[in-house]
Amino acid sequence: MGRLLKGPAFFQSGVRMRFRLLLWTAVFALAAPAAAGPQDKPQGKAAEQKGPEAAKKKEYVGSETCAGCHDEIYSNFTKKNPHAILETNKKRGWETKACEACHGPGSVHAETNSADDIRSPKNMKAAAIDEMCLSCHKNQPTHVGRLQSSHARNNVACTQCHNVHATGAESTQAQYRQAAGINKKCASCHSDVWASFQKPYRHKLNEGAMACTGCHNPHASFLNKNLRLTSGTEPGCMACHSDKRGPFVFEHAPVKNEPCSICHEPHGSANPRMLARAQVLNLCLECHSNIQSPPKATTAGGVPPAIHDLRNPRFQNCTICHQKIHGSNANGAMLR
Ligand code: HEC
Ligand code: HEC
Ligand code: HEC
Ligand code: HEC
Ligand code: HEC
Ligand code: HEC
Ligand code: HEC
Ligand code: HEC
Ligand code: HEC
Ligand code: HEC
Repeated sequence: MGRLLKGPAFFQSGVRMRFRLLLWTAVFALAAPAAAGPQDKPQGKAAEQKGPEAAKKKEYVGSETCAGCHDEIYSNFTKKNPHAILETNKKRGWETKACEACHGPGSVHAETNSADDIRSPKNMKAAAIDEMCLSCHKNQPTHVGRLQSSHARNNVACTQCHNVHATGAESTQAQYRQAAGINKKCASCHSDVWASFQKPYRHKLNEGAMACTGCHNPHASFLNKNLRLTSGTEPGCMACHSDKRGPFVFEHAPVKNEPCSICHEPHGSANPRMLARAQVLNLCLECHSNIQSPPKATTAGGVPPAIHDLRNPRFQNCTICHQKIHGSNANGAMLR
């Protein structure tokens, strides 16, 4: 609204936008934000393009100055925000100017009050936001910096999940402390996945006993689908279902070689035990038959020996007899 009223400034905004991008590139080129500090100068071409007036150097003015006009944001920030440590900590290079750690030097904006003169993530491209946040959040334990994540690739910026200035229940710190808060955030975009969790057989996400992040790392992972790892390359399922890990004397090949989701529907299922098929027999016979069309797995199992009369209901519920279906230490046919 405010911006539209400015007329000529609005018509120039394309140029300004590009200028700002160049400027930020220059800032980042100066490497670590701690080092970016006061040498933040627009350089060469970028400065010329904007003419003498606009080339006025942007300086850091300190958070107190911002507080003069943005008092509510400022006071919330200093009370609860984890980034408030930037304001007081000497080692991080942003002492007394935490606001400008993200918003860039604010001297010009403090004079003009124009949104065009301040770095505003609201108007930035997802990739540029990620880059800004990662100027500090590199190399953290949760892979935040691994931008091959499908979120980063699909323009879901850090700020779509982390609302920096939100307070109370909407703040990252409060929201992500509980499974229910995380699930609500994920479900706000992945409504189809959330719908699966309404099926009868499922993990207890609705009850807030578990979060999407039990299985997925929202930032990134070495596995497909941002799946969490436990140790080595094991799927995250093992963190809770370690009894399925083995090693067993008699392994069931797909448990070892395929993802658990070849037999289970991890987001919820209409079938007991979250099985991918309503009848166990159909699940087993997808691999244990000589008609493989199309082969579901890279490896097929053997055909059940002749004692199995598959027309006889007694033989249809395979796991009644093959009880140790994930692997056995006692029996090669996994009967016990
Ligand atoms: C003299 C008052 C004043 C000071 C000082 C001031 N601002 Fe602002 N700021 C404003 C006004 C007014 C707006 C609304 C501009 C608009 O909507 O066009 C604004 C808007 C913003 C925006 C949002 C821009 C957008 O895209 O909507 C950000 C971010 C911002 N200011 C950050 C800062 C920071 C950081 C500082 C300290 C370095 C600061 N401001 C200092 C008055 C001020
Ligand atoms: C960790 C980075 C970070 C820090 C530090 C930070 N901000 Fe922000 N700020 C953001 C982001 C990201 C947004 C955009 C919010 C969004 O997308 O909802 C924003 C938005 C704003 C806005 C626009 C709000 C609106 O709703 O229009 C203002 C004003 C602002 N910040 C002022 C400040 C002030 C003042 C400080 C210091 C007290 C500060 N910011 C510190 C990241 C930061
Ligand atoms: C200037 C450096 C800097 C920038 C830029 C920055 N952060 Fe931070 N961030 C920190 C520091 C310092 C902390 C305090 C916790 C710590 O020591 O790691 C923090 C904490 C956080 C936390 C809370 C972590 C926790 O353990 O609860 C989140 C989430 C976060 N930042 C997200 C962001 C996002 C999103 C952006 C971009 C909009 C951003 N940060 C930009 C330095 C930064
Ligand atoms: C799809 C949503 C989503 C996106 C996108 C996202 N995060 Fe997170 N982030 C989360 C959730 C959820 C948590 C809590 C993780 C947990 O509990 O396992 C978290 C935790 C964090 C933490 C605290 C834990 C730690 O690693 O120290 C930081 C810092 C953080 N995120 C920064 C970022 C940054 C920087 C980006 C952008 C590059 C980003 N996040 C993008 C959802 C997201
Ligand atoms: C702002 C919307 C948004 C939010 C919030 C969000 N996502 Fe996503 N997510 C996407 C988009 C867009 C994609 C890429 C397209 C797709 O696969 O649907 C995606 C993809 C994914 C994928 C698939 C990865 C792949 O490689 O195919 C997983 C897993 C995922 N998100 C998990 C989560 C989790 C867990 C959360 C909560 C911490 C979350 N998402 C929050 C929008 C979002
Ligand atoms: C019990 C573990 C588990 C939980 C909890 C879980 N997921 Fe998944 N998710 C998986 C597995 C495993 C896959 C891969 C399925 C495949 O490859 O067929 C997957 C795949 C996905 C995908 C890729 C597209 C698709 O549907 O296959 C998205 C998006 C996704 N999950 C989002 C979420 C969200 C959002 C939540 C929370 C509401 C969530 N997941 C909770 C295990 C889980
Ligand atoms: C954070 C811990 C956790 C993770 C990670 C997890 N699960 Fe579970 N799982 C549980 C709990 C707890 C139950 C029991 C739920 C209940 O009683 O409702 C369960 C139940 C199940 C069941 C159904 C058991 C039954 O009796 O109906 C299956 C199948 C299952 N999980 C498969 C998986 C798969 C596959 C994965 C990985 C994609 C996985 N789980 C990841 C905790 C987890
Ligand atoms: C070859 C298909 C197959 C694979 C692969 C498989 N499961 Fe199962 N799983 C089953 C069947 C069938 C049942 C039901 C057993 C029953 O009804 O007694 C089951 C039951 C379960 C149960 C609930 C009962 C119990 O034994 O605790 C859990 C939990 C479970 N599986 C987890 C996993 C995990 C985790 C993985 C991946 C490591 C996995 N499954 C891989 C077929 C499979
Ligand atoms: C994804 C494919 C797949 C599914 C589904 C599957 N199996 Fe298997 N199964 C195999 C493979 C591969 C082997 C190992 C065959 C070998 O080593 O010759 C195997 C081995 C076995 C064995 C040990 C005997 C042998 O041939 O080595 C039994 C018993 C068995 N499966 C029963 C079942 C039952 C019961 C089910 C249904 C709950 C089932 N399987 C589901 C692929 C599968
Ligand atoms: C009534 C109990 C029972 C049921 C039900 C049953 N089996 Fe079996 N299965 C056995 C016995 C007993 C053996 C023979 C074990 C041996 O020879 O050591 C066997 C052997 C097998 C073998 C070969 C094992 C090997 O070591 O070569 C496969 C494969 C197999 N069954 C698959 C299935 C499938 C698939 C189903 C469901 C359609 C099923 N079984 C249902 C009892 C049963």
